[in-house]
Parts: sequence; C-alpha cells; structure tokens
Amino acid sequence: QIKAAITGIQGYVPDYILTNAELETMVATSDEWIVSRTGIKERRILKGEGLGSSHMGAEAVKGLLAKTNTRAEEIELLICATTTPDYVFPCTANLICDMVGIRNVGSFDIQAACSGFVYALTLGSQFIETGKYKKVIVVGSDKMSAIVDYTDRKTCVLFGDGAGAVLLEPDTEGNGIIDSIIRSDGAGAPYLHQKAGGSRYPPTHETIDKGWHYVFQDGSQVFKFAVTNMAFISAEIMEKNGLTGDNVAWLVPHQANKRIIEATANRMGVGMDKVMVNIQHYGNTTSATIPLCLWDYESQLKKGDNVILAAFGGGFTWGAMYLKW
Ligand code: ACO
Repeated sequence: QIKAAITGIQGYVPDYILTNAELETMVATSDEWIVSRTGIKERRILKGEGLGSSHMGAEAVKGLLAKTNTRAEEIELLICATTTPDYVFPCTANLICDMVGIRNVGSFDIQAACSGFVYALTLGSQFIETGKYKKVIVVGSDKMSAIVDYTDRKTCVLFGDGAGAVLLEPDTEGNGIIDSIIRSDGAGAPYLHQKAGGSRYPPTHETIDKGWHYVFQDGSQVFKFAVTNMAFISAEIMEKNGLTGDNVAWLVPHQANKRIIEATANRMGVGMDKVMVNIQHYGNTTSATIPLCLWDYESQLKKGDNVILAAFGGGFTWGAMYLKW
C-alpha cells in the first residue's frame, strides 16, 4: 500500500522581529506576563507594501524546490492552508503557483484556522495514497499581523507571521503518513473569529469602526477547549495505532501557548524533551506553526521515528496525525 511521506521541508519567516520589549511600548503588557502566560518571547512580522501570505508561501516553496532538487514542472498539485489569504479570491495557492512557476495544475486553499496544516496534509496525502499523483506540495502560510489589532493586548502579543512547505511523495517501505483524524465544531465560532470581511458582514465603515476585521478571541474559553481537544485527539490516535509515550519519538503540537503544549504532552505521557517547541521565536503563526517546527527540528528527525502532529484552532477545528518519518 502506498503511503504519502514528507520528503522535504522548508520554512520562511520574515526578517522583522517584534520583541516583547517593543510590545511593551505599544500596549499595557510586560515581557514577564507574555512569557509566563504563553512562552512567547518574539515573533516575526512581514513588512512591505503589497506583500501577503502568498509572498511567504512562495518563498518557502522556492526553497523547498531548490532543496529537494525538484523542478516546478514536476509538481502535480499544491494545497495552501491559510486563514489570511491575500484576497477573498483568487485563492492564495493559485498565487503561489504563479510566483514559483508551477503551471496548469490544481491548486486550492484550505481554511481551518490553526488546524489548517493538519487538514491540508490529510487531504494532500490522499492524492498520493490513491496513486493519482507523485509530487504534491502542502503549504501553511499566515500573515496574522494583517488581522491583529495592535491596540488589543489580549491578542496582539500572541500572533506572528510565517510560512512552511512540505513535499509529499510516495513511500512503499511503510514510512509516511499512517493515520490522521480531523474534527470540527462550528459552535465554537463565537469564541474565536474575524467577524467582518466575509459574506455575513461585508466590510463597511461601520464594521471597520467596530474593529470587526480583527481577530477576536475569548482566550480563557479557547484555552479550555484547546487543552481538552488536543489532548484527547492525540491520545486517541496513539491508542488507535498502539503507541505509548515511550515509543513516540516526537510530538509536534500547534504553537499557540506553551501551557497548552505542556498539558497535551503531559496527558499523552510524552516527555518535554520529545516535544518540538519554537513558540518563543515565532509566536502563533496559525497554519505555519507545524511546518516551521518540523523545519527547525529537521536535523534531529530520524528515519522511522514515530511522529505525532496535533493542532487546535478557530472553528473550532482540531486534528492529529501519526506519521513514520
Ligand atoms: N498583558 C498583560 N495583561 C494581559 C494581556 C497582556 N498581553 N492580555 C490579557 N491580559 C489580562 C487580561 O486583561 C485579564 O485581566 P483582567 O482579569 O483584569 O480582565 C488577565 O490578563 C487574564 O486574562 P485571560 O485572558 O484570562 O488570560 P489567560 O491566562 O487565559 O491567558 C491567553 C490568555 C494567553 C490568550 C490564553 O487564554 C490562551 O492561550 N488561550 C488559547 C489560545 C489558543 O489556543 N487559540 C487557538 C488557536 S488560535 C487560531 O485558531 C487563530
């Protein structure tokens, strides 16, 4: 049976570093509060007129093609997970393909907030497993700074910009993506959303004045759902596949809050030395957190390692994936 394996990873983060010290000059917050509540020390911000999520996604894909010695013409499908698309339409995946020279193939976006990458990877893997395609790219890219209110201390300290891309190819040796679970609950919408800009509340002067084009989050409510669901779904995929804290080599959790990461690892019986964490550098980059973690820890991943990806985000959405590296 064909499995879809990740055969290349590339991340991209913008140069500008927004530190907690700089945030202290913008809102009533402190480095101590941010680090103790979230684990975040700094995040990257994409500066530059007319640059959106497609720019970062394209940079990641360009690097990925170069690193894996793959020509753009060999790619058969590109999926982009993003919650901050450049436009409502066309989709960001179309724009990325154009920027990197991938022509005449299917490309589309997946929107599942912070679970977007796990969703997109789940979908992309199906095209490999069925034998339809041999080279699929999955991108996660988010310019959260575009929808964050930098006068709202409850959200502006949390998010950052970044992108990551992976190449999926067939593996017949039993490695690759073994299982995935994706779930959602739209009743979570009131707790985490961007209210205006879509079809329900098209942008008007009034919606702008009310700040409805910014991320709204009821942090403590979302915290409870995130801890519970990420822990449960990770435990579920481990149990289903006969895994324990001992034989899991790596947990790659969505990076929203260090306390959520620690609670998830604890529930799974996985020691923190086996958990990928880079939230201190990038904050919550939404669809990009998981590929950015894989990129940062790439040199430590060994063939055959049991790796669990776990995510939770707006929707609510959540998901877990088990792959053999
Ligand atoms: N600096 C200082 N004080 C602050 C700040 C800040 N940056 N932000 C909030 N506070 C204050 C609040 O105003 C509040 O004060 P009050 O009691 O006087 O009103 C107090 O700190 C506590 O606020 P809480 O929101 O209860 O703080 P909490 O401990 O819950 O931490 C946080 C907030 C970090 C947002 C946490 O709730 C969290 O991580 N939630 C989950 C985030 C998540 O997983 N999101 C899903 C993915 S994101 C996506 O899908 C797009």
